[in-house]
Amino acid sequence: MKKITIAIDGYSSTGKSTVAKQLADYLGYVYVDSGAMYRAVTLYAMQQGIISDNHFDVEKLKESLPSIHLRFLKEAAWNKAHIFLNGKDVEDKIRNLEVSEFVSPIATIHEVRVKLVAQQQKMGLEKGVVMDGRDIGTVVFPNAELKIFMNASAKERAQRRYQELVARGDDIQFNDVLKNIEERDYIDTTRDDSPLRKASDAIEIDNSDMNLEDQFHTVLQLAKDRIAGR
Ligand code: DC
Repeated sequence: MKKITIAIDGYSSTGKSTVAKQLADYLGYVYVDSGAMYRAVTLYAMQQGIISDNHFDVEKLKESLPSIHLRFLKEAAWNKAHIFLNGKDVEDKIRNLEVSEFVSPIATIHEVRVKLVAQQQKMGLEKGVVMDGRDIGTVVFPNAELKIFMNASAKERAQRRYQELVARGDDIQFNDVLKNIEERDYIDTTRDDSPLRKASDAIEIDNSDMNLEDQFHTVLQLAKDRIAGR
């Protein structure tokens, strides 16, 4: 069967990764969480003291880029591939609020984007890929056969994210999560390099009032149509 490339972009915490992963599993495609790559670079900068006390040394990060090696690896027992930073599994270290606070500024750095986009494009060479992020349909795979743009209200997204973090045992306040989401929306949409925006040929889905099953079936139908050449 013909394999296609599927780009899923959208605002933070719109549930892109859940639907992208479900779709990839169903189709037997590779799922790539491009946000995890920006998060892993942010974690590296935190671990190396490039980010400290709300300040980050952009030049030092640019110089360090050749020393940052990212890979996705999957083991049978894991539900999704984990991201490895210089050989270490950092999947459970990249989703906390601290990394979330710094990741959007880090993702504005042109050199960081050039490095990660090149790696993402390599991962998509053989098609059969579902990748989610902010610039997948606009920059990484402008020729993707299917582009989805996901959206939901900031309050709804913050509520989902808050519940996720609480379930993980994080001690956080709802208002801090909402503030972080609004700040990231602002930085992601106003940065000069590859700002978050809907590609002209993307299909927008507002999932504020949709459950996961409805979302999955909507996206799956679109994918089946594209695979069939419709
Ligand atoms: O999808 P996420 O929330 O894990 O992404 C974390 C941050 O990384 C997000 O605030 C913006 C940035 N990002 C990006 O600039 N481009 C991408 N393709 C994916 C993520």
